[in-house]
Amino acid sequence: METVLGIDLGTSSVKALLVGADGQLFGEARAAVASVHAHPGWSEQSPETWWRALAGAVGRLASEHAGALGACRAVGVSGQMHGSVLLDAAGRVLRPAILWNDSRSAPECEAVMRELGLARLLELAGNRAFPGFTAPKIRWLRRHEPAVLGRTAHLLLPKDFLVWRLTGGLATDVSDASGTLLLDIGRRCWSAELCSVFGADPAWLPPVRESSDVVGAVRAGLDLEGLPAGIPVVAGAGDQAAAAVGVGVVRPGETSVCLGSSGVVFVQTDAYRPDPAGVLHAFCHAAPAAWHLMGVMLSAGSALEWFATTFPPPTSRRGADPQSPVQHVTRLAADAEPGARGVLFLPYLAGERCPHPDPTARATFHGMTLGTDYADLARAVVEGIVVGLAECADRVRAAGADLRRVRVTGGATRSPLLMGLLASALGCPVETAAIDEGSAYGAALLAGLAAGWAPAVDSMAARWQRPGEPFHPRDRESAALEQVKARRLALYRGIRG
Ligand code: XUL
Repeated sequence: METVLGIDLGTSSVKALLVGADGQLFGEARAAVASVHAHPGWSEQSPETWWRALAGAVGRLASEHAGALGACRAVGVSGQMHGSVLLDAAGRVLRPAILWNDSRSAPECEAVMRELGLARLLELAGNRAFPGFTAPKIRWLRRHEPAVLGRTAHLLLPKDFLVWRLTGGLATDVSDASGTLLLDIGRRCWSAELCSVFGADPAWLPPVRESSDVVGAVRAGLDLEGLPAGIPVVAGAGDQAAAAVGVGVVRPGETSVCLGSSGVVFVQTDAYRPDPAGVLHAFCHAAPAAWHLMGVMLSAGSALEWFATTFPPPTSRRGADPQSPVQHVTRLAADAEPGARGVLFLPYLAGERCPHPDPTARATFHGMTLGTDYADLARAVVEGIVVGLAECADRVRAAGADLRRVRVTGGATRSPLLMGLLASALGCPVETAAIDEGSAYGAALLAGLAAGWAPAVDSMAARWQRPGEPFHPRDRESAALEQVKARRLALYRGIRG
C-alpha cells in the first residue's frame, strides 16, 4: 500500500487526508483553528496555530492510521487564499495573518483602482482590487504598521507557510499567487508593475511554481508524528483550484461549486480571459496552461455557522437528539416554507465580492412580522446562501459558461437540504463528490503526481473520479428562489442606493 497526504488549511480547521493510488481514502483527521475579529471587518489568524493544528491532525492520523501514514509517499497542501504571512529574515512571524475575509483595506483598493485603472488591473492581475486580496493589505500596513514592513523579509500565503515549515523551502504556486494581485496572471509570473503600485518589495516574494512541481522534501525532526521524512512536497494550490481539481474540473468548460466558509462557482477556461466587469476572479488553474473564472460569495457556510452559534436553535425545537447547532438549523429550515414566509437574508457578513464587489456591504434580515418564527429565519439564511451562489452562477453563465452539470464539494454537501436547494437555485443538476473534503483531496491528487501515479493532472483526476449523489432542480423551489433573488436584489439596491 502507498498513500499520499493531502492537507487543506481551511478557515475553520486544518484537514488532512491519506489517499491511496486509486483515490481511495485511508484516513482523515482535522483540527480546529480560530479567527480573531478585533474590529468590524477585520479577520486574522495566527500562523503558529495553523502549524499546531496540522501537528494535531497528523498526530490523529498517526494514532488511528499509523500504517497508512507510514506508507505516505508525497505531500500536497492547499489552503485559504489571499492571507498575508509576514516573516523576518530569521523566519519569525511578524504579526497575525490578515485573512481573505478581512475588508480593512477597502480605501487602499479604491486608491489603486483610481491610480492604475480597472482596465490595466484586469489586463495584468485579472481582477479588481478586492480588500481580501494580499497586496492591498501591504498598502494598508505601509500606512498603519510601517515598522512591520520595515522588518519584513518574506511574504507568504497561508498554505506556503505550512510548506515552508514542512520543507524549509520558500515557494508558492500559480493558483494561490493569483489571489495576491501581484501576479501577472496571463504570464504566470510576478509583476514588477503591480509590486510597485502596492508597495510590495519583489525580494519578499517566493518563487512561483506550477501546482504539481516538487518544491522540497519533508524535513527530519519535525513535530509531525509518523510522517516519513524525505518524501517530496508539491507546490500545492489555493483551496478553490485544489477543490476544482479534486472534483475533476480539469478541462475547459467544466464547472464546480465549493461550499465551505465562502461559496464559489468555478469554471475552467481555455485561456486567460478576465471578466470585463472584474466581478468574477480570473486566476491561474492548478494545471499548466489552464486558467479559470470564479464568482466568490464571502459568507456561505460561515453565515450558517454564524447564525447557528449566535442564535442557537430554541431548546423547544431541538428535541433530544445530539446534533450540532448547524444540523439543527438546517433541519428546521427543511421543514419551513419555501420563501421563508417573506423573510430575506442578505449574507454580507464580511462584505461581498460577487455579484456585488462591495466590501462595506453588511448582512440584513428583512421582512419579519409578528408571525415570523425561528424556522423562517433559518430558512432565510439557507436560501440566502444558495441564492448568492445562483447570483455567482448567473455571472459565470454570462461569461459564456454552460452550467449543465455542476460538481459540488465542501462541508455543506453533507446537507441534503442545501444540495437540493442549490440544484433548484442553479436550475441544473448538481452532483456531490464521494469525498467531500475537495480541497484536501485535490491537494492529495497533486501529490499523487510526485508519487509517480500519473503523468499529468487530468489523468490523475480521471483515475480518482468518484461520483457521489446527484440532486435535481424542483420547479416549485426554483420559482420560490427566483423570487427571493429578485426581491433581494431590489433590497440590496434600496439599501446601497
Ligand atoms: C477565494 C476566497 C476564499 C478563500 C477561503 O478567492 O477568498 O474561497 O480561499 O476559502
